[in-house]
Amino acid sequence: MEITIDRGSREPIYQQIARQVRDLITTGKLPAGFRLPPERRLAQALGVSRSTVLIAYQELRADALIDAHVGRGTMVTPSEGTPERTEVEQELPWRQIFGAAASGFQDPLVGDLLRLTERAGAIPLSFGMPAPELLPFAELRELITGVLDDTGPAALLHSPTEGLTVLRTTLAQMMAARGVSCTPDEVLVLSGSQQGLDLAARIFLDPGDAVVVEQPSFIGALQTFRGARARLIGVPTDEHGMRTDVLESVLSRFRPKLIYTLPTFQNPSGTVLTLERRQHLLALSRRYQVPILEDDPYSELRYEGDPVPSLRALDPAGNVLYLSTFSKLLFPGMRLGFLIAPRAVLRQFALARQTADLHSNTLGQWVLDRFMQGGRMSAHMRVVRHAYRRRRDAMDAALRKAAVPGLGWQRPQGGFYFWCRLPAGVRPAALLARAAEAGVSYLPGRACFADEPPTEFIRLNFSYPDEDQIREGVARLAAAIRQETGHPDTTELQAASTRPIV
Ligand SMILES: Cc1ncc(COP(=O)(O)O)c(C=O)c1O
Repeated sequence: MEITIDRGSREPIYQQIARQVRDLITTGKLPAGFRLPPERRLAQALGVSRSTVLIAYQELRADALIDAHVGRGTMVTPSEGTPERTEVEQELPWRQIFGAAASGFQDPLVGDLLRLTERAGAIPLSFGMPAPELLPFAELRELITGVLDDTGPAALLHSPTEGLTVLRTTLAQMMAARGVSCTPDEVLVLSGSQQGLDLAARIFLDPGDAVVVEQPSFIGALQTFRGARARLIGVPTDEHGMRTDVLESVLSRFRPKLIYTLPTFQNPSGTVLTLERRQHLLALSRRYQVPILEDDPYSELRYEGDPVPSLRALDPAGNVLYLSTFSKLLFPGMRLGFLIAPRAVLRQFALARQTADLHSNTLGQWVLDRFMQGGRMSAHMRVVRHAYRRRRDAMDAALRKAAVPGLGWQRPQGGFYFWCRLPAGVRPAALLARAAEAGVSYLPGRACFADEPPTEFIRLNFSYPDEDQIREGVARLAAAIRQETGHPDTTELQAASTRPIV
């Protein structure tokens, strides 16, 4: 069984192993009943940790390609009882049939993280979701019934591509309260802001076009722009957000089509772009005639400090396309976000979205509109801000208590994430495998960079897990990092090793 490891690859090592074994099995090179080498032996042969092989084997087991038998080891799943596939039943070679753009979407990281997180007892610090227990469940149930009673079947039929007029009007009013002046016909309701990113890529980017992204940036946007086969030009950030001093030379050199930025409680870094840099960014956008796509899911989730106006609020020229979502404040599963853009741009977005989903969920739009009326939204925001502030403080305290040498972070003033710089020498793939073994997940920082990251980071979420889970998750992670850096702390290691996730 020949497996090669590419240590320079972005693909985690456990995945390299799982992928190669999977290929050997599916191409018939490893027949049913073939005995795979024991984890420890394969780990030695490949020069990787045992936990890396363990995770790779877990993946293959989850795919039902291999099975562990007490006393006999791990074997390729026998195909007895499964009749040979006839030519008629053979699957098409899909990978060969996919178009060139498909390779841009092939970052399996998010899927893998979700799978690791689903394992029993695992603490998810990898998500970017609101706390499910804080959803205003009873109110939503009541609103859904009320909407169905009042509208009859209309709430279950098609609705305008741009969104329900009532909701567009409510959103324009909400934005006025945030210092943004816009009319309802400058608001496009979206099926989540991810759709806005996809539409922006489709409308603005041809293959090879340059798009400016922050380093680091939102993984979903990077994947979308890569899928459009755009050239991602990374601009560094510091604790005050994007380095606009660097941006100027990038704009003059690469002439990008779009500047994508998350100025407020950035995902993943949690930073807030200063007012001065916001003004500078807008001036550069005007000078170089490059539109800005402002992605703002988190600005309402501020736990301390004074709000900073959005770029859209500071932009009288209409260079800023403003994207936001209800996925972080309320319900990601309802898939409701929105774009504010000049009418000509909005029309282009609406035309492009007609080839995708026609319009957003009609019932959801009615429910959201009613929820936002009558002060329900502000009452809900008070509840979640209070809970998330506590969770953020719990994570900060847990990180301090763990006192891992060389681990650095800044306590964010809002948003969902801690962005932690890992101690020197930590191998990202090995840490991910150790953490999975200890029953905790996080987002590896590498996934958030357009190019090779300058240092290794991890993103930890504090909105989804409760305070106890945060404390336990950080303790497990700290133990894994200590193991990786060769600073084992025996108490924590024992705590971690009593909780296998298999
Ligand atoms: C910065 C950013 N933009 C967009 C999205 C996508 O959100 P939605 O669920 O609205 O598609 C997310 C979600 O994680 C995000 O963090």
